[in-house]
Amino acid sequence: MAIFENITGEGKFTIPRHIAIILDGNGRWAKKRGLPRTAGHAAGAETFRKIATYCKNIGVNYLTVYAFSTENWSRPEEEVKTIMKLLDKYLHEAIATMERDHIKMRILGDVSVLSPSLREEIEETNRISSRYDGFQANICLNYGGRAEILQAARRYALDLAAGRATEDLSEKGFSSYLYSAGIPDPELLIRPGGEKRISNFLLWQCAYSEFYFSDVLWPDFTPEELDKAIAEFNRRDRRFGGVKNG
Ligand code: FPP
Repeated sequence: MAIFENITGEGKFTIPRHIAIILDGNGRWAKKRGLPRTAGHAAGAETFRKIATYCKNIGVNYLTVYAFSTENWSRPEEEVKTIMKLLDKYLHEAIATMERDHIKMRILGDVSVLSPSLREEIEETNRISSRYDGFQANICLNYGGRAEILQAARRYALDLAAGRATEDLSEKGFSSYLYSAGIPDPELLIRPGGEKRISNFLLWQCAYSEFYFSDVLWPDFTPEELDKAIAEFNRRDRRFGGVKNG
């Protein structure tokens, strides 16, 4: 993990290799300003851009965000359409940034039901990503933690039946069937927006993650807020179920 001089002036901190964030509070942010919810999502996408750049600069290797869950389809049609349009626009623009800054990007979730243009964009980001091996942004799209585990179990069962896998499946082996295959588990999970729950996000991967909750609404989230979360992470005593040495 990288070491970084924290901008809050609190000293040097270990930077988590992988940070996961539940993007929450876009709707409330917009409502507070008398704007439509969709304006909150546009502001949230902008904040993602800023935080991703900051993460890259301080030495985070992976940033994973929860942008659209399997449950989010139940939102008003207009809102779903706007979020999809924003993602389309965002991915389109991200392609140029990826080439310029050698960034990798991966979409985690069931992308089979997304629009053809989004799927094309996703394929393009995959193609570009295969050329680089630096900072990686993961966007969870049509993602659900239980659905992810279920599709992994189904694929493993098929492999087992076809003789491509054996019965002695390990945790590491099972992880390779998840959308997040090859990505290390997040050390730090951040949820802005005031709620204190996991909402079906990275259920398998967060087994030992430190959770950090903030009342700041996602569009207002800043690098300083991220530093606060990293400072708190550095104060935590991570034992992974064992006992402290010494
Ligand atoms: C949660 O806020 C936010 C979402 C469900 C959508 C997030 C999507 C984006 C920011 C679009 C683009 C994303 C990227 C990564 C480019 P909420 O609507 O639940 O807020 P509320 O709890 O205040 O209603």
